[in-house]
Amino acid sequence: MSGLFVTFEGPEGAGKSTNLKVFAQALADAGCQAVVTREPGGTPVAERIREVLLSHHDEPMDADAELLLMFAARAQHLNTLIKPALARGQVVISDRFTDATYAYQGGGRGIDPQRIAALEEWVQGSVRPDLVVMFDVPVELGMARARARSQLDRFEQEQTAFFEAVRATYLQRAALNPQRYRVIDASGSLEQVRQAMQPVIDEVLERWRA
Ligand SMILES: Nc1ncnc2c1ncn2[C@@H]1O[C@H](COP(=O)(O)OP(=O)(O)OP(=O)(O)O)[C@@H](O)[C@H]1O
Ligand SMILES: [Mg+2]
Repeated sequence: MSGLFVTFEGPEGAGKSTNLKVFAQALADAGCQAVVTREPGGTPVAERIREVLLSHHDEPMDADAELLLMFAARAQHLNTLIKPALARGQVVISDRFTDATYAYQGGGRGIDPQRIAALEEWVQGSVRPDLVVMFDVPVELGMARARARSQLDRFEQEQTAFFEAVRATYLQRAALNPQRYRVIDASGSLEQVRQAMQPVIDEVLERWRA
């Protein structure tokens, strides 16, 4: 028995967390109770690592230290929460996963994607998302939404060029693997985004029932 592993991706302020609630509620209304989680984090230990990753420090964080902490949190999350839920046959939806590492630590920080791929192989083995729902917004719009929402975390205070690289990396990954990625235009109203998600909701339900 194996469930379905869905991830939500996209830059700051794209609307991942907002739309994940809507998405999970639509699944629940159809009788599918998904496990909703997030990265970095998702378990008590991984959430502690998240605090280190997102908070501001008196010294700059080394890019390799940041990358390794992301995968440390991921190992904990995957082995204690995600894999057991998939083994029970559940749909798991994670707010960010390894595509975010390629986008932020790879595209944004400039780490060689081959190093990320090596860690992906080590930590995840053959586990990859079955479906990546990617929320795409122009950088300025996402940043404006994030600024209006709350105080900026360590990533959100980066400059426009960083987020342009993040967005470009996400879109490249989606273009290379169209059978696994569903790109949602997240620049419109919440109602427009909800409508754009509907085919993906239907697809998840169909695959879950199969
Ligand atoms: N389509 C939309 N139209 C207007 N406002 C939106 C839309 N989508 C999200 N927002 C608002 O923008 C802010 C950011 O949304 P949200 O927190 O869901 O983004 P996110 O992708 O989860 O961001 P992060 O990567 O920082 O967690 C929230 O205040 C949310 O209410
Ligand atoms: Mg969010």
